[in-house]
Amino acid sequence: MGVAAANRVSLGEGATPLVPAGRIAARLGLDLHLKLECLNPTGSFKDRGMAVAVSRALDAGARTVVCASTGNTAASAAAYAARAGLKAVVITPAGATADAKRAQSRAVGARVVEIRGSFDDALRLCRELGERDGFTVVNSVNPDRIDGQKTVVAEIVEQLGAVPDVIALPYGGGGNTSAVAAGIAEAGIPTRIVSGQSAVRTTTVASAIRIGEPAHVERVERLVGEGRVEVATLGEDELLEMWRALGSDEGIFCEPASAAGVAALAQLGIAGVTAVAIVTGHGLKDTGAVADPATPTVEPTIEAVLEAIR
Ligand code: F0G
Repeated sequence: MGVAAANRVSLGEGATPLVPAGRIAARLGLDLHLKLECLNPTGSFKDRGMAVAVSRALDAGARTVVCASTGNTAASAAAYAARAGLKAVVITPAGATADAKRAQSRAVGARVVEIRGSFDDALRLCRELGERDGFTVVNSVNPDRIDGQKTVVAEIVEQLGAVPDVIALPYGGGGNTSAVAAGIAEAGIPTRIVSGQSAVRTTTVASAIRIGEPAHVERVERLVGEGRVEVATLGEDELLEMWRALGSDEGIFCEPASAAGVAALAQLGIAGVTAVAIVTGHGLKDTGAVADPATPTVEPTIEAVLEAIR
C-alpha cells in the first residue's frame, strides 16, 4: 500500500467473526449473518480504516492526528496514534458521547477536547485544524480510512463462501456506506447495500450516530440513485427493539447504533435473500443504554435468590 514497512501500524485489526443470526433470520425470512466488527482491537469497525490512515500519516511525516468523533473514531485514532508514536487530538460534542469511549481515548494518551457544540461543529473545527502544519485529519473524509474499511467486503465473501445479496449497516456520516460500496465495486459483485439511519439524527439514543449533516451525503445519494444503496429511516423504537433482539435472541451485545443495519432489513421487508449485517460497535462502549431497574438486591440466602429469579 505504498507505506514503508517500518511505518505500518497495526493492532491486529480485521479477521473478525461472521456468525449466523438464526432466530432473527427465521423471523425475517432471511439467511442472515452478523459480521462482528465490534470485535476489532478498539471495539469498533473503525480500526481497519484507522490502521491504514495512521500508517499513511506516519509515513508522510505527520506529527499529530486529529478527528471529530462521537467516540469510536476517537478511541481508534487514539490507539493507533499511540502505537505509531504520534499525538492524537480528538474533538467531541460535550455531554453527547459515551463515557467509556472517552475513557478509551484518554487511556492511550489522546488529548480529548469537548466542545459546547454538535458533532458537525466538531468536524468543522477538525477540518480547520487539518489545514495547519503537522495535523492530519483521520475522519472518514480522509480517503485512507475508506481504503482500509472497504476490506471488510472481501473478508465477508471469503468467510461466507458466497457473495451476499445484501450488506446492511448503520448510516451515520456515511463513511462506512461509501467504504462498503467501494469494496463491492472492487470485488465486482452485485451486492446491494441497505443503510439504516435514525429519524432523529441529532438526538437519537444511539449516541454513535448523533450526526446532523452526514459528511458523505452526496456520495450516498448518488449510490441510492444508481440503485446500489437503499436507506431506511428508523424510529427509536425500531432501533432499540432490534438492539434488544440482537442481545436476547442472538447473544450479541452491541451498542444501539449497531442494530441499525438489521433494523433496516426488517423495516424494508427484505426477505428470501442472503444478507450480512455489520455489527459496528461493542456494547461495553455504551452501557448507559442498558436499563437496569429490574436487578434485585437480596439477602445472601438461597431462599432469597430463588425468590428473586422466580
Ligand atoms: N456504528 C457505530 C458504532 C459508529 O460509531 C458509527 C460512527 C457508525 C455506526 C456510523 O458510521 O459514520 O461511517 O456512517 N461513528 C463516528 C465516530 C461518527 O465518531 O465514532 P458512518
